[in-house]
Amino acid sequence: MTRVNSLIAYAAATLLGAAAAQSSSVAASCSSTLSASYAAPSVAEGYVARLVANNLTKPRGIKFDSQGALLVVEQDVGITALTLVDAGQGCLSVGSRKTVINDTTLNHGIEFSANGSTLYASSPEAVYSWDYSPQSQSNTSEPKVLVANMTTSDHTTRTLLRSQHAPGLMVVTRGSTANLDPEAEVLSTGHSQVKAFNLTNQTTTYDFDTDGLLLGWGLRNDVGIDEEPLSGGIYSVENSVDQMVREGQDIHENNPGEEMNFLGYLNGTYSANQGRNFGYPECYSAWNVSAIPDFNGTVGDQFAIGNLNSTVNDTTCDAANRQAPRLTFQAHMAPLDILFNTAGTAAWVTFHGSWDRADPVGYKLSVVEFANGDAVQPSNSTTAAVDIVSNANNTACPSGCFRPVGLAWDTQGRLFMSSDATGEIYAVLRANGSETSSAGSNATGTIPSSTASGGGSGTASSGSASASASSLATGSTGSMSALALVVGVLAFLF
Ligand SMILES: *[C@@H]1O[C@H](CO)[C@@H](O)[C@H](O)[C@H]1NC(C)=O
Ligand SMILES: *[C@@H]1O[C@H](CO)[C@@H](O)[C@H](O)[C@H]1NC(C)=O
Ligand SMILES: *[C@@H]1O[C@H](CO)[C@@H](O)[C@H](O)[C@H]1NC(C)=O
Ligand SMILES: *[C@@H]1O[C@H](CO)[C@@H](O)[C@H](O)[C@H]1NC(C)=O
Ligand SMILES: *[C@@H]1O[C@H](CO)[C@@H](O)[C@H](O)[C@H]1NC(C)=O
Ligand SMILES: *[C@@H]1O[C@H](CO)[C@@H](O)[C@H](O)[C@H]1NC(C)=O
Ligand SMILES: *[C@@H]1O[C@H](CO)[C@@H](O)[C@H](O)[C@H]1NC(C)=O
Ligand SMILES: *[C@@H]1O[C@H](CO)[C@@H](O)[C@H](O)[C@H]1NC(C)=O
Ligand SMILES: *[C@@H]1O[C@H](CO)[C@@H](O)[C@H](O)[C@H]1NC(C)=O
Ligand SMILES: *[C@@H]1O[C@H](CO)[C@@H](O)[C@H](O)[C@H]1NC(C)=O
Ligand SMILES: *[C@@H]1O[C@H](CO)[C@@H](O)[C@H](O)[C@H]1NC(C)=O
Ligand SMILES: *[C@@H]1O[C@H](CO)[C@@H](O)[C@H](O)[C@H]1NC(C)=O
Repeated sequence: MTRVNSLIAYAAATLLGAAAAQSSSVAASCSSTLSASYAAPSVAEGYVARLVANNLTKPRGIKFDSQGALLVVEQDVGITALTLVDAGQGCLSVGSRKTVINDTTLNHGIEFSANGSTLYASSPEAVYSWDYSPQSQSNTSEPKVLVANMTTSDHTTRTLLRSQHAPGLMVVTRGSTANLDPEAEVLSTGHSQVKAFNLTNQTTTYDFDTDGLLLGWGLRNDVGIDEEPLSGGIYSVENSVDQMVREGQDIHENNPGEEMNFLGYLNGTYSANQGRNFGYPECYSAWNVSAIPDFNGTVGDQFAIGNLNSTVNDTTCDAANRQAPRLTFQAHMAPLDILFNTAGTAAWVTFHGSWDRADPVGYKLSVVEFANGDAVQPSNSTTAAVDIVSNANNTACPSGCFRPVGLAWDTQGRLFMSSDATGEIYAVLRANGSETSSAGSNATGTIPSSTASGGGSGTASSGSASASASSLATGSTGSMSALALVVGVLAFLF
């Protein structure tokens, strides 16, 4: 090797090393890799789903503390802190596991204050707060009861969302007491509602039914909720009704659709949606239009349940009388979380999966493209949710596949996802090492072109990559991106 060649080789190696340290592609395997006990998920091209934690009890809501520990609500157990060991190249494993709150009533909701020193969580009855030390991963006070009087049956999770745009406001979602809950027709019951409570200098415990700012009612069970980062718009995802019958016909297989609702803004910007009735338990949004008898609308329009009569009919459910969803998804997919990226170009949605359908659907993580504070697709779209992590074969579900619930970003833009049925946490990475949170802008073009999340027929699509038997499930562009990086660096050198 000539001197100049060896110098160039040295410079290339150094530069490649530096590039690798910043944004190296994800390793094909890790020494710490855990294996799922079921067929590994299918993953869209360019993504990797890596299993980073297991042996948890029904992990639901997840949230990173200010020091980078992942706090997990283990349903009916309490809150556990996991520190993650990062061996580089997306090799993540659990370093330590510590019980933070031992309280078997906690079942889903979790939040932190802006400065990270207050931890919030919820039970079916109440929203609590504790002073929290991220250094010791423990509470440093007794719990305070912030919002109470929420106990009901059936849908008992109370998701929490701390507003970034309206400091001090905490959004709480509360579902119905039954598949069909007549009390949800009465505003004062507090059933099937989303409300915001002002925690700034709070002096008394709030009563969910009588206090708070009403964001919407007639919302059957909007478990997932997030604030769009550019506009501050509040978007929720709703689990709609089971066993739907209309005009004497069982239409439940592909109707009604699951929903993404727009609930307006918290910072005072006006929206006609805020505080409106969204339909439940009388009105539902159409998914497979042709299966709905005597219906004149299109996908996403609302229609009445049961036998149409002089008090409940499709006029009762039209846009003038009830707020329709912003988007509709395949029936029974059971959306449980929605999480925006910081650029406001993508909303990630977990679909927990179906029980009330002959062919299982859901059991996947999808992404919905956003721009300018709004979804890109029109409200009648059947292709708005694009699958990123799914199962090649849903037949084994729910016992033999992952069942996603909660989502959280770490500070490096990596997406974390809990799976309650399997007691696991996955990290969803980009194969080329770039941030998962950068997906969704046209500049990086990383949302795969839509393969549709179930068409009008209700056919579930599978992910675009095939399942592998290892716990590393990956799309195929990782090595190509690494090659492109090498070529790019060499081109720069010469
Ligand atoms: C999970 O629990 C099982 C049974 O208790 C144990 O054998 C296994 O080592 C645990 N795995 C981890 C990663 O903690
Ligand atoms: C939680 O507290 C109960 C009752 O005090 C105790 O039996 C249990 O071992 C504790 N669990 C954990 C994980 O600390
Ligand atoms: C919350 O309450 C505080 C204290 O009363 C008040 O200053 C603030 O404006 C309130 N925030 C909102 C969004 O209403
Ligand atoms: C909240 O209480 C603190 C301490 O009493 C006070 O300094 C602050 O001004 C109050 N904030 C609002 C918004 O009322
Ligand atoms: C809960 O409701 C009961 C009556 O239904 C009322 O007496 C009590 O004050 C309420 N609690 C709170 C915290 O508002
Ligand atoms: C609310 O926030 C949005 C986005 O930052 C901003 O455009 C709007 O002006 C704000 N509204 C009010 C009333 O402050
Ligand atoms: C559907 O449209 C037809 C024709 O306009 C009308 O006769 C019928 O009453 C409509 N059905 C419903 C349920 O609105
Ligand atoms: C009309 O239909 C609704 C929904 O099925 C039902 O609750 C109500 O009792 C019906 N009213 C009459 C007058 O039949
Ligand atoms: C439909 O219900 C509304 C009340 O929601 C009622 O005003 C209207 O007359 C009903 N239409 C028919 C055709 O019965
Ligand atoms: C991305 O580009 C496509 C095709 O040019 C366009 O239809 C779509 O609206 C763009 N999406 C965003 C979020 O700008
Ligand atoms: C769907 O919505 C778009 C945009 O609002 C509209 O142009 C189109 O005609 C609608 N399609 C149907 C079948 O209603
Ligand atoms: C899907 O899984 C079921 C049950 O696990 C199995 O019987 C079936 O053959 C599988 N289908 C495919 C296409 O692999």
